[in-house]
Amino acid sequence: MSARTYSLFDRLVMNFDQAVRTLAGRPLVTGRPNPADDREEAELSEAEKRESMRLMRVNHAGEVAAQALYQGQALTARLPVVRGRMERAAEEENDHLDWCEKRVNELGGHVSYLNPAWYFGSFAIGAAAGAIGDKWSLGFVAETEKQVIEHLDGHLRRIAPQDGKSRAIVEQMKVDEAHHGAEARRAGGVDLPQPVKQLMKLTSRIMTGAAYRV
Ligand SMILES: [Fe+2]
Ligand SMILES: [Fe+2]
Repeated sequence: MSARTYSLFDRLVMNFDQAVRTLAGRPLVTGRPNPADDREEAELSEAEKRESMRLMRVNHAGEVAAQALYQGQALTARLPVVRGRMERAAEEENDHLDWCEKRVNELGGHVSYLNPAWYFGSFAIGAAAGAIGDKWSLGFVAETEKQVIEHLDGHLRRIAPQDGKSRAIVEQMKVDEAHHGAEARRAGGVDLPQPVKQLMKLTSRIMTGAAYRV
């Protein structure tokens, strides 16, 4: 059986389908078990519950953005192997998306109202990175994952110690993000210029600040 090559139009249609799935909360997941499932729901104060909910909402918004970045990059990546890797990583991000949304709901919250904006903004950034060149877009993935891990570490310091369900999800996400970053570097991702890294940090600060609130 020969591998099918898709036209740019085919890929745009598939991307639109992915966008709808991501934003409507029905993404294609890998089917791995939710790491929170075998943890007991803990006794949390109202303040602890609210803080966990807000942080998990930030994580969910970050996963919406990650999903869009991968889809955007996959659209413009030149090498099929790079495109294939991006699509696989995007599917794993969908697990995170799914687990975070479930946890936000369990904690009595809602996902960020700004998710469509995160999706389309990140999609454009991803497509631009992919168009510049594979080694840069892979470098962009590696740097993104590094910054995400720093964020997740910050969240682990803020989530109540007894909130094992939220913590289990964040811990598994850290493992996966480290893997995605290492893969991107192995595939040829280069170290990004410092100003680009700073700009990425600034963008994520704006995004996480807004998703924390709404
Ligand atoms: Fe993720
Ligand atoms: Fe990732």
